[in-house]
Formats: sequence, C-alpha cells, structure tokens
Amino acid sequence: MEITYKNTSALSLIFTFILFISSLNLSFSTTICNTNDKNVLLGIKSQFNNASDFTTWDPITDCCKNWSGIECNSNGRVTMLAVSDTNDVIGEIPTSVVNLPFLQFFTFAVFPGVSGTIPPAIAKLTNLVHLDFSLDSLTGPIPDFLGQLKNLDVIDLPGNRFTGQIPASLGRLTKLRSANLGSNQLSGPIPASLGMIKSLEQLYIYINNLSGPIPASLAQLPKLNELSLFQNQLTGSIPESFGSFKNPALNIDLSSNNLSGPIPSSFGKAKITALVLSKNKFSGDASFLFGKDKTVLTTMD
Ligand SMILES: *[C@@H]1O[C@H](CO)[C@@H](O)[C@H](O)[C@H]1NC(C)=O
Ligand SMILES: *[C@@H]1O[C@H](CO)[C@@H](O)[C@H](O)[C@H]1NC(C)=O
Ligand SMILES: *[C@@H]1O[C@H](CO)[C@@H](O)[C@H](O)[C@H]1NC(C)=O
Ligand SMILES: *[C@@H]1O[C@H](CO)[C@@H](O)[C@H](O)[C@H]1NC(C)=O
Repeated sequence: MEITYKNTSALSLIFTFILFISSLNLSFSTTICNTNDKNVLLGIKSQFNNASDFTTWDPITDCCKNWSGIECNSNGRVTMLAVSDTNDVIGEIPTSVVNLPFLQFFTFAVFPGVSGTIPPAIAKLTNLVHLDFSLDSLTGPIPDFLGQLKNLDVIDLPGNRFTGQIPASLGRLTKLRSANLGSNQLSGPIPASLGMIKSLEQLYIYINNLSGPIPASLAQLPKLNELSLFQNQLTGSIPESFGSFKNPALNIDLSSNNLSGPIPSSFGKAKITALVLSKNKFSGDASFLFGKDKTVLTTMD
C-alpha cells in the first residue's frame, strides 16, 4: 500500500514536470518577438498611418513570424526591416529605427512619398550590413557618417535627389561589396579613397554631376567587376593604371562624360568583358582594343 502510494506520487511529480516543460516550450514557440522591438515597429506603422506595407503588422501576432518584411535573431530581436514599393508610405525615414539595436538589414525603398534627408540616427545602427533607400525622394547629402558603419556590405541609394559630394569616409568601409549612388545630383570629384575598399565588387555612380578626373586608385580594387560612371562631367583621360585591373570579368561604362586624350595602351591588356566609352572626346588609335588576346571581350562601344 505504502509502496504504491510512493510510486503514484513520483509518477505524478514526473507528469507535472513534463507538463511544465512542455508549457515552457509552448510559450517560447508562440512569442519570440522582443516587446521593445515590437513597440518600435508598431510606432512606425502608426507614423505611416497604417499604410498598406504594414497590414500584416498585427499587435496580437508575433512580429518575428507573422509580420511581412521582418526577421529576427533567435532571441527575438529584429534584424531585418524591409518594406518597399507603395505610394501610401508618406513622410521621412523613421528615426525610431535607432531603437532596433540589432538591425542589420534596412530597406525602405521605392517609396516616392518618402522625402527629407538621411537622418543622423542611422549612424547609431552599428550592426547595419545592408542599407537600401533606392528610388525614394530623398534630398540633402550622402552623409559622412555612413563611413562609420563598418559592417556595411551593400549601400543602395540610387534614384533619389541627393546633392553634394561623395564622402571620402566611404573609403573606410572595409567590408563594402556594392555601392549604388546612381541617378542623383551628386557633384564634385570621385574620392580617391574609394580605391581603398579592397572588398568592392560593384561601383555605380552613373547619371550624376560628378566632375574632375577618374581616380587612378580605382584600378587597385582587386574584386571590381562593375564600374559604371556614365553620364557625368568627368574630365581628363583614362588612368594609365586601368591596365592593371585584376578581376577577369570587368564591365566598364564611362560613356557620356567629357573624357579626352588617347586611350592608354595599357588599357588594352586589361581583361575586360564590356567596355563602353562612347560620347566622350577621346582621340588617337584604339585598334589595340581589338587584339587577338581579347578573349573575354563581348561588348565594345
Ligand atoms: C491603425 O491600426 C491600429 C490597429 O492595428 C488602430 O488601433 C489604429 O486606429 C489605426 N490607425 C489609423 C490611423 O488607421
Ligand atoms: C504565425 O506564423 C506561424 C509560423 O509561421 C504560423 O504557424 C501561425 O499560424 C501564424 N499565425 C497567424 C495568426 O497568422
Ligand atoms: C548638373 O549639371 C547640369 C549640366 O552641367 C546642370 O544643368 C545642372 O544644373 C546640374 N545640376 C546640379 C544639381 O548641379
Ligand atoms: C569638356 O572639356 C573641354 C576641354 O577638354 C572644355 O572646353 C569643355 O568646357 C568641357 N565641357 C563640359 C560640359 O564640361
């Protein structure tokens, strides 16, 4: 009798324990989203008057699992905020993103109704890897402080109305692979410091008001495969250094500038797949560009 009683007690203890554990599991699996992060996101939703991009951002569901454009780490902290492509998001880049300290991917793009400048709050997002404000209506400068965001891998800012110079500080971004600043109203020179970004694979600065020479330092970029500088007011000649590009698949578009002088014969040795030099003021003989050794060249204008 006594033995049976003890066994029953032990069993029920085990049973209670199992129930407790499974209820813990259940609560972990239903609510991951960090409360502070969720409130920041709900604030953004209300700042933009519940615009269509935010319809899935329902306060009663889990922001990490059920909200479109949101991703979290395993602790429920928001690492991605990626919304784009509607006309009803109207206002400025929300400065409250500064209260999402784990944010790595921030896309707020293809919003014709988003204007103003890039807010200084962005400088505090030190984990930022990917910044995309493509095709908004932003104005003002490309801020110097972007050079402090050491983890940046991609900067996409094309199709806005940015003015001023390209900040030399971008040269400090040692992990940057792709920068697109095309179709803005940037002026002044291309900073030579961009030649220090050894990780850089794509540089797009087409359709701006850039002037001055093409920095010779760009030829030091060992991984560069896209260099798009067309439609600016660049002057001077193609740097002699451009013959030393290392990447075997390189597309270069320097068209519609005010470049002049002979095309350097060293350039003929570079392994280039597409070369567009039209609408400039080049002179001299370019026949060396068509040599038998040009095995990878597919496009020439
Ligand atoms: C936005 O949606 C919330 C519920 O998610 C609601 O309480 C609020 O009134 C809505 N605001 C507007 C401006 O529609
Ligand atoms: C939220 O997402 C989870 C996991 O994807 C899913 O199982 C659940 O049904 C969703 N809840 C709602 C209310 O949509
Ligand atoms: C860009 O250059 C063009 C042609 O030189 C000029 O008409 C235009 O005003 C310039 N725009 C800016 C924003 O500097
Ligand atoms: C282009 O360069 C020539 C000199 O090479 C200069 O006279 C002319 O003003 C420049 N044009 C523009 C639009 O910068």
